[in-house]
Amino acid sequence: MHDETATPERIRATLAGHLARARDRSRALTECVDDRDLIAQHSPLMSPLVWDLAHIGNQEELWLVRDVGGRAPLRRDIDDLYDAFQHARSARPSLPLLDPGEARGYVGQVREMTWDVLDRSPLAGRRLERDGFAFAMIAQHEQQHDETMLATHQLRSGTPVLTAAPAPGAVVDVAGEVTLPGGEFELGTSTHPWALDNERPAHRVSLPPFVIDAAPVTNARYLEFIADGGYDRPELWSTRGWAHRSDESLEAPQFWERDTSGTWWRRVFGVMTPVNPRQPVTHVCYFEAQAFARWAGGRLPTEAEWEFAARWDPATGRSRRFPWGDAEPTAEHANLGQRHLEPAEVGAYPGGASPSGVHQLIGDVWEWTSSDFRPYPGFAAFPYREYSEVFFGGDYRVLRGGSFGTDPVVCRSTFRNWDHPIRRQIFAGFRCARDV
Ligand code: AVJ
Ligand code: FE
Repeated sequence: MHDETATPERIRATLAGHLARARDRSRALTECVDDRDLIAQHSPLMSPLVWDLAHIGNQEELWLVRDVGGRAPLRRDIDDLYDAFQHARSARPSLPLLDPGEARGYVGQVREMTWDVLDRSPLAGRRLERDGFAFAMIAQHEQQHDETMLATHQLRSGTPVLTAAPAPGAVVDVAGEVTLPGGEFELGTSTHPWALDNERPAHRVSLPPFVIDAAPVTNARYLEFIADGGYDRPELWSTRGWAHRSDESLEAPQFWERDTSGTWWRRVFGVMTPVNPRQPVTHVCYFEAQAFARWAGGRLPTEAEWEFAARWDPATGRSRRFPWGDAEPTAEHANLGQRHLEPAEVGAYPGGASPSGVHQLIGDVWEWTSSDFRPYPGFAAFPYREYSEVFFGGDYRVLRGGSFGTDPVVCRSTFRNWDHPIRRQIFAGFRCARDV
């Protein structure tokens, strides 16, 4: 969508494709379980799946049907139920929610109206409609909730219901670190029409030279950290991290279990599988990542360092869209979009590496950075404060790069995710960095 020659017809067709793909995924994630499962709470950290589904429809109604379309409300009476700021996730199961049949009917009705609004919008004029921003925002919103629903599936117990082809195995050896020169660099974007408010505006930063891992930290390396007593050595942990590790008795990533012979297994969407030493470690919190980095003699990268590694083009010195250049991600570049239900082995995506040889920045696992979630200089909330602004300055760390469960419409090298440093249910791993 950087193509300035794109006609409204072409943008409309692209948006329709993104909206349809998001809906196919929402349906797949909610049609594979029965109604009892849809209304159940699989973890106090998560909403019932049926809440996510109707919330997706409600946000679409608010922004596309009512605001862009100027239509009368379809269900004003449920706005409060599906306002994420009115009810904590843990309280959502006891609300008088739409039942699964009603929720499906509601999101379907909203979508019918959306198609009509999309047909009529000039995709120009006021900022909300220019280049189809509102439609792209809603497609991204649905995909973000789809990834959240995928995390709910990972927490769910019972018969496995999700299937996908296994992720590709390693095809090249990737190990070690890459030294990057730093210098003046453009962080964020002012030009991507569908970038969300917290990615804006583009601004120059100056970075000292730094070293970054060529790949995310693997399970093999993480097992070395465990075997070396990493979870029992307070000197490796921050004060808060050690307190958390002790309170929660952390001793391995979430979903890991060791059998009597000492072999580690992990539960992946209900299926017990041996821990694959070549895959990036997943389901670790920020504090675990930080302790590992200290053990390994490094630290976590800042988000500016991460974005430098993902976007800096040594040939021109300019910031590009992706590590591999400006082309949209394909299956050759990155493990995205729930094509697989696991991160791929390190070395599986040589086509997605940066010119400096940094691999798998995009896809596989979200990567913890050391940065707090703060506004960029010149930030302006758009179109609503509750997307980003209310979280700035809170207890959140930035995660970058997307996971195997992130759709390409959400996954830009400028995209900023955030979560509390104790969270492990997201598909998060990390890589290390250090000063030169
Ligand atoms: C950007 C993933 C932290 O899920 O809380 C969904 C995305 N914002 N609905 C979240 C979001 C509003 C958000 N994260
Ligand atoms: Fe939401």
